[in-house]
Formats: sequence, structure tokens, C-alpha cells
Amino acid sequence: MRDFSETNITQAVLERAAGAADGRTREVSEALVRHLHNFIREIEPTQAEWEWGIDFLTRTGQMCSDTRQEFILLSDTLGVSMLVDAINHRLPGGATETTVLGPFYVGNPPVRALGSDISDGEEGEPLWAEGTIYDADGNPLVGATVDTWHSDADGYYDVQKPEDDELHMRARFITDENGRYWFRSIVPAYYPIPNDGPVGKMLQSQGRHPYRPAHVHFMIAAPNHETLVTHVFLEGDPYLDSDVVFGVKNSLITALTALENEHGIEKGKRLTYDFKLATAR
Ligand code: BEZ
Ligand code: FE
Repeated sequence: MRDFSETNITQAVLERAAGAADGRTREVSEALVRHLHNFIREIEPTQAEWEWGIDFLTRTGQMCSDTRQEFILLSDTLGVSMLVDAINHRLPGGATETTVLGPFYVGNPPVRALGSDISDGEEGEPLWAEGTIYDADGNPLVGATVDTWHSDADGYYDVQKPEDDELHMRARFITDENGRYWFRSIVPAYYPIPNDGPVGKMLQSQGRHPYRPAHVHFMIAAPNHETLVTHVFLEGDPYLDSDVVFGVKNSLITALTALENEHGIEKGKRLTYDFKLATAR
């Protein structure tokens, strides 16, 4: 076939993709072509706008490295990551809600003894975190793995400070015989996502700020249970209603309470949060 036009080109591309041997590849290719062509029909880009779009994607790719994933930031800030998360976590009622993993997770952090100070001397207001991991029936999960990581008091993750290659404010704990975890750290701050690349420019031109409300990340795993990837957000944060990656859920917000002369902390804050894991599907 030749002489493709505004009216017949979509159908022509769909017919070519219909030959894909794998059914899922065919389904995804067809949806991609339909939506992409509809998008172009709706916005009717000028040639210069199309070139700008290609350049934006090129710069986004060029910004990616081992330590920077600009495409994930694009997905996060367009709400796609949270949409994928929602589709994949239609969990039974009562299970702790999920949110994005984010780019600052470091795989296999050291397992530390319950009660360790994971700030390792970083400056900030002392934080004592504790809680219990439960299964779907409310039984404590003994020996569950609790991975946690969070920003410092200035809103930076350890991996954002190349001058210091030690891990801070991240560790892995194993719950005790009552399914409990506890550790010491410092109160994290709200922070801007990395915004010195094309995604930062996009946010600026959309009139958006780049901030995430203060939170502590958790990834919790136990045999025969769905691994839970989530955060606990701190009540009162100014960005709870405008998280740049749309990750906040009411059930994940908790108020820190005052702590005095406990756990070797003269004055600090306590974060208490219990998690409930869904049974593996
Ligand atoms: C984070 O919470 O670490 C994060 C999530 C999405 C984008 C940037 C950072
Ligand atoms: Fe984070």
C-alpha cells in the first residue's frame, strides 16, 4: 500500500503491527499506535514542535546514567509510576497501601541489629522508629525483612553525596519474635527530586514545584507474602497535597510524637507505624 494520508495512516500502521507473533506485543503495539496517533491528531504539532519533542526525549535519555534515571523521573512526575503501582496493587482491604519505589533505593543494604542508629552520626533531630509487621489475619510476622531508607535533615539521600561513599540512613532489619522492628535515625526533610535535567525544565514550564513531602521508605518482605513497597509520610508537611510524584495516601501519613530520655535519646521524635502484608497471590 502507498499514498498514506491523515485518514488512513493509523490503520496502515495497525495492520503492520498485527503480524506480531506474540499476543501481548501485538496488543501493546496496537494501543501505542492508536494513542500516539490520537495524541498527534489532538495537538496538531508544528514541525518545530515535533522536533522539540524528539529533542526532549533525546535529552531525557542522555541524562540517564548508572546513578540517574531521568525516564523514571518523567514517568513519576506524569503520574504514570503511581498509575502502574495502583494497577499492580489491587490489594485486599486492610493491607498497607503501596507507593513508588523511587530512584534512591540501594539493593541489599547491610542487615543491622534492631535498635541500630542508621544515621551513623549525621546531623539532625533524633528519630526513633518502631512498629509491627502483621500478616493479613493480624498475626505478627516473625523474621520479616524490613528495608528502610530516607533523606537527611537537608533533604538529601546518601547516594546524592558523591564525596561520601558510605551508606547512611538506610539499612535492613529482621523482625523479632513478636514481628517488631525498631531503629534510631534522624527526622527526614522534604526535598526536591533531581531537577537539573529535562524533567526539571518540564516541571518549571508546567508551573509546578519539584518537592516531595518528608517520608521514610520501607520495603518489607516475608515468605508467602506480597513484598510491600511504601513510604510513611510525616503529618504536617507542607507538600502532602502537592507531592510532585503523586505518591501520598492518607493511610500512609503519621504524626511524629515527642520522645524524651528514651532509647538513649535526650529529646527527639518517635515514628510509630505498623504494616500489614497481603498474602502472596
Ligand atoms: C523518592 O521518594 O525517593 C523519589 C520518588 C520518585 C522520584 C524521586 C524520588
Ligand atoms: Fe524518597
